Amino acid sequence: MEKSNVRPTNDLNMQEKEYENSIRPQSIEDFSGQPQLIENLRIFIKAANLRGEALDHVLFHGPPGLGKTTLSRIVANELGVNIKETSGPVIEKPADLAGLLTSLEPRDVLFIDEIHRLSTVVEEYMYAAMEDFKIDIMIDSGPSARSIQINLNPFTLVGATTRSGLLTAPLLSRFGIKSRLDYYNKEVLQRIIMRSGNLLNVKITSDAALEIAGRSRGTPRIANGLLRRMRDFAQVLGNGVIDMAIAEHGLRALNVDKHGLDDMDNRILSTLIDKFKGGPTGINNIATAVSEEAGTIEEVYEPFLIQEGFIIRTPRGREATEKAYRHLDRKGWRGGGDHTLF
Ligand SMILES: Nc1ncnc2c1ncn2[C@@H]1O[C@H](COP(=O)(O)OP(=O)(O)O)[C@@H](O)[C@H]1O
Ligand SMILES: [Mg+2]
Repeated sequence: MEKSNVRPTNDLNMQEKEYENSIRPQSIEDFSGQPQLIENLRIFIKAANLRGEALDHVLFHGPPGLGKTTLSRIVANELGVNIKETSGPVIEKPADLAGLLTSLEPRDVLFIDEIHRLSTVVEEYMYAAMEDFKIDIMIDSGPSARSIQINLNPFTLVGATTRSGLLTAPLLSRFGIKSRLDYYNKEVLQRIIMRSGNLLNVKITSDAALEIAGRSRGTPRIANGLLRRMRDFAQVLGNGVIDMAIAEHGLRALNVDKHGLDDMDNRILSTLIDKFKGGPTGINNIATAVSEEAGTIEEVYEPFLIQEGFIIRTPRGREATEKAYRHLDRKGWRGGGDHTLF
């Protein structure tokens, strides 16, 4: 299968980043979906604003492209404060973190993307900053070297991760607010696509938006990426309007899976079916076969496949469902785990 060029990746090029930023919701009102998370966040932000205090530290976790970065910026906007953005691997040593922390104004947001990739020393240095708004810094060197403690302005650490399973217990416990982002349903994605179309001045019919939504793997980033491509098809092959005919043509031309599955999803399913007779088999076997980390499969890929009913988790491992066999056009589904029948 040809690799889809619209993937839920964090490795976006400049143009893609610019495109994302141009349609990124800025306020909580513009953010669609995740109703429970939003309702809670509104209350916590409002309470922090009423008390004039920093918001508790927030962790957003969930698969790529679901709105973690977007929400982090919205949190800062709604608090009416500045946001400083960095990411786990960029902070190489405690001094880098100290520089960031001491530059924060009261109630500011420090956003650390990919927070699971903080080094151990930096992470441990963070504990006191998060808990007491204090850090130790070394001054001088050689025999006169000593550390002094400095007070920080109260701040909110907003962390984002696709791999919450890799976070240590001490770090996790220092986040007062932990929110998991879920995949979006078709109707919400349709709304997001219509909104993006509006901002970009692209006309799109609601049935075409729904069709694209259904093939977006529950992910706004993919939905917006597909919209961008459909705009090209509409402009070159049609009259600029993305209607059903353009959407169907474009989705076929891009080889977009009819359930919105991506290349890795399909590899996981075909491995399970072709190499392991549909399972059950352990996550490590699947991971080795598709050359991906077991944890990434568990946290990034598998949740969607389970939600959509392509895989089930049993005590003996993962099993491909009849829907997976049908999807890949394979025969030989052994049915409901009762393998003794055959
Ligand atoms: N709930 C939402 N409503 C509208 N657009 C969204 C929503 N969530 C994400 N997006 C859009 O999807 C893209 C990816 O979102 P982002 O916050 O960067 O995801 P993450 O940080 O989780 O990988 C952005 O262009 C953003 O505008
Ligand atoms: Mg992000």
